Amino acid sequence: MEIKAIRGFNDILPDEVGKWQFVEKTVREVFESFGFAEIRIPILERTELFSRGIGEATDIVEKEMYTFTDKGGSSLTLRPEATASMARAYLEHQFYTFDPVAKLYCIGPMFRYERPQKGRYRQFYQIDAEVFGVGNPMVDAEVILMLIHFLRRVGLEKLELQINSLGCRDCRPRYRDGLKAYLTEKSFQLCEDCQRRIQANPLRIFDCKVQTCQEAIADAPKVIDFICDECSVHFNRVKEYLAMADLDYILNPRMVRGLDYYTRTAFEVVSYDLGSQNAVTGGGRYDNLFQEIGGLDIPGIGFAIGMERLISLLPKDKGLIQRSHLFIAAPGKDTHQEAYRIANQLHLEGIRAEFDYEGKSLKSQMRRADKLNARYVLILGEEELRKGRAVLRNMADKSQEEIPIDNLPDILKRKIFSD
Ligand code: HAM
Repeated sequence: MEIKAIRGFNDILPDEVGKWQFVEKTVREVFESFGFAEIRIPILERTELFSRGIGEATDIVEKEMYTFTDKGGSSLTLRPEATASMARAYLEHQFYTFDPVAKLYCIGPMFRYERPQKGRYRQFYQIDAEVFGVGNPMVDAEVILMLIHFLRRVGLEKLELQINSLGCRDCRPRYRDGLKAYLTEKSFQLCEDCQRRIQANPLRIFDCKVQTCQEAIADAPKVIDFICDECSVHFNRVKEYLAMADLDYILNPRMVRGLDYYTRTAFEVVSYDLGSQNAVTGGGRYDNLFQEIGGLDIPGIGFAIGMERLISLLPKDKGLIQRSHLFIAAPGKDTHQEAYRIANQLHLEGIRAEFDYEGKSLKSQMRRADKLNARYVLILGEEELRKGRAVLRNMADKSQEEIPIDNLPDILKRKIFSD
């Protein structure tokens, strides 16, 4: 039986890779100009990092992690997100002894055992950016500015930035109590999962898609009405700094985010072109995460962009790959070997030249050149070759000219790289 890929795990095919490379290149340009440095972290971590960092009662930790015991008996997990791993790396390598502020980003696959659907996969890629060591609301706005700037740079326009404040360790418990009291009265309307969540993690009810739960929470208390004075001042500053950067946003008092580590500022960027999985990015501040994973008292803020969702929104003209600059058509036996020699010479000059290994008929080679979308075809006829010349055909306007073979690289480079 033919072996197929695992459900929810996708191949990214050569035709799509141009878009991925374009996004990754733009990430590096934009993030690095904002002072961020790339970090590469492992895909596997100790399970405890995520259960403590993300929170035991979150959907991710409760039911979505790829967790297994290795041969040495340790419980390991394929990372479901990157924030906790980046915080671990920051602590483990004591970045703070060098500079209290660290601005880091990473790009890579994450794993969550969710029900696959359009825009939701079991292996998916995130672009993740984090700032560790700054509690000032200015950095909240700056991180959001970088995110929006990046999304615009890759060509996304119809986006909406939503923000909220989730309070802190001091004020959140008051909100939880208020929400619990409200939900207990509505419990008969809630699904089984949400009934359980009332005690375990009442905020998660906002993410439930069940219609009756949605109706039950329509008038639920809002976290923003419970936040303490410091959180309120922090949030107002964030809004001022966003306004200074000319960023439009809407307040979404129901956005609570799916991970427990968040404090204060939370944000999402949604696209109405995405259907039900409409969040391209989620992020926020997490001032207690470092302590949860056993570290120092260090504030942090960041976001992660879902790459598959981002790529599905890219304008069509972004990241197109020109796979072949030139196809060398060489039907004769001698010319066939010459094609091999020329192709290798051109590859060393950075020209993407392709030829036919089997020496098929000219007609079949021209068909292949067309399929490969080659910009030029170099036709090596035996007659011309004897004179040290070949015919260069421009596939766009079908014009042809005879050119000398000995300075082929120069002629081709001028043509290919100047237009
Ligand atoms: P998150 O909201 O769980 O946050 O994920 C961020 C983004 O990853 C989502 O907005 C979505 O685009 C994408 N995503 C999540 N799950 C899937 C999936 N199953 N399939 C496809 N795309 C998905 C975090 O992961 C936080 N670590 C973000 C963060 C960084 N907060 C602070 N720093």
